[in-house]
Amino acid sequence: MTAGPVEARELHMRLPEKGMSKDEVFDRIRERKREDADWHGGKTFSLVYPAGEEVDEVLAEANRLYVYENALNPFKFPSLREMEREVVEMTAGLLNAPERAGGTMTSGGTESIIMAVKVARERAKLERGVENGILLAPRSAHPAFAKAAHYLGLEHRQIPIGDDFRADVDATGDLVDDRTVLVVGSAPGYPHGVVDPIEEMAAIAADRGVPFHTDSCVGGFLLPFVERLGRPVPLFDFRVEGVTSMSADVHKYGYCTKGASVVLHRDSEWLGHQIFMYSDWPGGLYGSPAIAGARPAAPIAAAWAVMSFLGADGYTDLVRTVMETADRIRAEVDAIPELHVWGNPVASVIAIGSDSVDVMAVNDVMDDQGWNLDRQLEPPALHMMLSPKHAGVVDELLADLRYAVVNHGKSRGAEARYA
Ligand SMILES: Cc1ncc(COP(=O)(O)O)c(C=O)c1O
Repeated sequence: MTAGPVEARELHMRLPEKGMSKDEVFDRIRERKREDADWHGGKTFSLVYPAGEEVDEVLAEANRLYVYENALNPFKFPSLREMEREVVEMTAGLLNAPERAGGTMTSGGTESIIMAVKVARERAKLERGVENGILLAPRSAHPAFAKAAHYLGLEHRQIPIGDDFRADVDATGDLVDDRTVLVVGSAPGYPHGVVDPIEEMAAIAADRGVPFHTDSCVGGFLLPFVERLGRPVPLFDFRVEGVTSMSADVHKYGYCTKGASVVLHRDSEWLGHQIFMYSDWPGGLYGSPAIAGARPAAPIAAAWAVMSFLGADGYTDLVRTVMETADRIRAEVDAIPELHVWGNPVASVIAIGSDSVDVMAVNDVMDDQGWNLDRQLEPPALHMMLSPKHAGVVDELLADLRYAVVNHGKSRGAEARYA
């Protein structure tokens, strides 16, 4: 963990004495928004997952209906309690969770991960007396695990990854010890889109009495449908006996607007370690399932709405489109002599590298053409997370990529960064 840079800046902005007119407010917002990445045109990746106009309409209406409600107190808004329960149950079904499983919705992958790590920390303390626990996650795991360890006072240790970018099974065995509170694998991982050897890793953890978390924040609403298409997907979910918890983001390939994820535990009893209950204050009993106190209601309604609207058939159709786009990109990248795809991504997260050209310089040209591909360092790569919208721009994307490979100059030194 390194301390983050904080810019010294003077705080000039003050609340206006006199409010603006509605027109002025929205003129100003629209003016500012012009600088934002244009996801409508399919030129962004990983930040927004556009799935078509009908899905947009469903999401907009669900959000509109629940702009004001607060999911902090489900007894006042039973509709939210029901929708949250059903989103969790539908997700549990997709991921083959046993009937005794339990879970909640959270605000996103990071919060789901922090909750899974917290449950593991509490279990290690109570069941094995572990005080200074260690969280073991692959080097390719999302930074949310380092953040969880940091927030929860755990030591974060990394499992090395092999040449195929998957976590090293032997190293996992060597690294698990009496202080390990949780072992993690990704399905798939963000950087290279590969699925870690979940079966082998979870078996090692189970042998040592340690819980195992599959991070399927990206894959939870993707891999079950890739499997339905009859494509090979390694086992990654609760069918693997040693998997004790999972995270799956509805706001990624579930196509929900932001603020919706699900955390699941194999045994609903463990949920008790997640939920915070407090009564030692004048207000009476206060309970909360995750980090947030007041919780926005709209993500719950939007998650329920989009999942119910699409159903398994709708998701399968969207995944078919996404996979066809991914196949096309992989084939055409392999046909460009200077480029290759790193590893063997199982679905639609692709990292493109090169042994002969500087992919950062190639990406400068892509930037100039309006694309917003992410940059990665280990190994240097252009990163794509494909959504259904990209099917309509894949020809342009590939033509621009071929142009960029031939016409790039020296790298302008743009950083690989997400924030
Ligand atoms: C594999 C994986 N896990 C976890 C997360 C964290 O999710 P969020 O950004 O919703 O907190 C991400 C985000 O991209 C991810 O790719």
